Amino acid sequence: MRIEYFDTLPSTNQYCELLNLEETEEFTVVAAFAQTAGIGQRGNHWEAEPGKNLTFSIVLKPTWLPIVDQYQLTKAVSLGITDYLRPLIAEGNRRVHIKWPNDIYVDDKKICGILITHHIAGGKVSASVVGIGLNVNQIDFPSWVPNPTSLCLLTGQVWPLSEALENVLSHIAYRYNELRDNPIGILDQPYLSMLLRRGEKAQYGYQGQTITATLLDVNRYGHLQLVTDRGERLSCQLKEIQFL
Ligand code: BTN
Repeated sequence: MRIEYFDTLPSTNQYCELLNLEETEEFTVVAAFAQTAGIGQRGNHWEAEPGKNLTFSIVLKPTWLPIVDQYQLTKAVSLGITDYLRPLIAEGNRRVHIKWPNDIYVDDKKICGILITHHIAGGKVSASVVGIGLNVNQIDFPSWVPNPTSLCLLTGQVWPLSEALENVLSHIAYRYNELRDNPIGILDQPYLSMLLRRGEKAQYGYQGQTITATLLDVNRYGHLQLVTDRGERLSCQLKEIQFL
């Protein structure tokens, strides 16, 4: 594993996208002390106070992964992060969850966001850029950031960033290797068991309305599977449903 540290980059994901990925070694990690144009889901800006958080991207080469199963990579990465966080915030009744598709929550607050882009060539996933923003020591967030938390806010401790980076990377590498070295599906149950709201009746925004539904599963393509209180089955992509 090679880690390249930068003082400031517009975005570690954008930096990786500009690399010649064919020639980039698998598990090259690009980490930045500060990002000036961090990219979040749905084209949003990713907010992170310089020097307080982990903002990094990993280049993976999952050429062994069938294209139809590319969502498995999201499972491996999000499980690696929850594996890392769980023992650190073990006090009380706090729970770490994966909020579909790839946010990491502690109780009802977001601690980490993941942004993955896949490159397809020759019928395979030739490379994936996995961007991770993990809130570590930031304690004040701008009011527009929805429900943020950080390791420091949860534990009352300041966490050394380079150690945190090495630890979270080793957990991600473990789950990635587990996925690579086993039949597809090895991570399905662990992922499902970490899913926020699984098996619970809750409210969602769907086709301009508020619906009550129970989250059942995530299918092979990463689409959320729900059953409404009227017994109707829904299969939703990211833009089709909002957690309320
Ligand atoms: C989200 O919106 O939840 C995804 C956030 C992903 C942010 C990380 S920070 C490191 C990497 N570089 C970026 O520009 N974005 C990702």
